[in-house]
Amino acid sequence: MARSVLFVCLGNICRSPTAEAVFRDLADGRGLHIDSAGTSGWHDGGRSDPRASAEARRRGYDMSMIRSRKVTVADFDDFDLIIAMDRQNLRDLRDVQPTGSKARVELFLPYAPELHRDEVPDPYYEDNFPAVFDMIEIASQALLTTI
Ligand code: 4NP
Repeated sequence: MARSVLFVCLGNICRSPTAEAVFRDLADGRGLHIDSAGTSGWHDGGRSDPRASAEARRRGYDMSMIRSRKVTVADFDDFDLIIAMDRQNLRDLRDVQPTGSKARVELFLPYAPELHRDEVPDPYYEDNFPAVFDMIEIASQALLTTI
């Protein structure tokens, strides 16, 4: 059983902080440790993309407290489950995961097979925040039922 979940994308300003906000809201009261991080560190210390936080606000979530950070080696022992948004994130995570560390590292969308896709597309360039948000909400509900 997972007690802690880390959501990971490339920049930690669009997809993974959205998943963090949605999952925290859904899991309210379950005592889970929920966080997000990026594989790149490009936006370290920065706020989420305003397009993501505006879409979150429209749907009743608050991303204002979230700040971007890079994945650390310690994350692989601090979290039971590390959830990657796309296959490149998954590869990058597996490249740095210390041997014998406890975290399971998995893709997000296969938790919701009805979506018929494995990867959350990167909205930073595609500018498709509502569609990405829909996927994240559906997959978050599915993930919560398995925890
Ligand atoms: P994210 O999106 O990985 O969902 O946070 C991106 C954010 C920033 C960049 C790429 C993707 N970037 O190139 O700065």
